[in-house]
Amino acid sequence: MAEIYAIISGKGGVGKSTFTAGISAALVSLGKKVLAVDCDIGLRSLDLLLECDEQVVFDWGDVILSRCEPERAVIHGKVDFIAAPRSFEDEFNAENLRKLLTGCYSGYDYIFIDSSAGVGRAFETAAGACDRLIAVTTADNICVRSCAVACADARKLGVTDQRLIINMFEIRPAKKRRLLNLDECIDETGVRLLGVVPFDRVLAYASVTGIKPGEFSPSDRAFDRIARRMTGENVDLICE
Ligand SMILES: Nc1ncnc2c1ncn2[C@@H]1O[C@H](COP(=O)(O)OP(=O)(O)OP(=O)(O)O)[C@@H](O)[C@H]1O
Ligand SMILES: [Mg+2]
Repeated sequence: MAEIYAIISGKGGVGKSTFTAGISAALVSLGKKVLAVDCDIGLRSLDLLLECDEQVVFDWGDVILSRCEPERAVIHGKVDFIAAPRSFEDEFNAENLRKLLTGCYSGYDYIFIDSSAGVGRAFETAAGACDRLIAVTTADNICVRSCAVACADARKLGVTDQRLIINMFEIRPAKKRRLLNLDECIDETGVRLLGVVPFDRVLAYASVTGIKPGEFSPSDRAFDRIARRMTGENVDLICE
């Protein structure tokens, strides 16, 4: 049975979709079967990050509305992927999404639902459909405080198994008090740390340059470490 994770945040642009793509690829490299599901309804982007945007024909909304068979919505690649619907329908809710994922895609080891930012409808759908949640934040007051609110809202929805990813982290600004340190992020959100992804210049420019971070880039190594922690390996939370 697949473990279903929702990837959420308070503020936008903190790296949810990048994390979803990175952790999915890292888990696949460890031999796991992974399905990435875009839940950023109307503003999807995971198809671009997984480089399969031109292959998108159907989305999970089409499956819920019986416009296509479940298998036809899956784009097979290193990471299997299902696109987000372009607009909301009443039927696109947590109950139907969970039913779909547990009923039709249960052969995966991991399913990641990439939510939109904040606590709107996409968040409720993703959080309500998951077993556990990964909250992504950057180490600044605005994003951390919003992340704490989103995590509290998810708890109200019954999602109490939560982990934190601190993304785009840089040690020097944190030491100079230009960014929060890791303890401050953990204390403010009240969520256990799963991992830290450093700021990676190549990743920041990748959507324009088309140049992907290499195998030993800081972000890639971080995704690998986090994937190993998720599979139960005892891996240090090293920050570079
Ligand atoms: N660790 C990182 N280092 C440098 N740049 C990063 C890192 N993580 C993400 N980015 C960049 O930040 C930008 C936003 O990332 P992304 O789209 O993944 O955020 P998001 O939280 O999914 O946004 P949204 O809330 O709009 O869905 C992208 O340009 C991405 O390349
Ligand atoms: Mg996104």
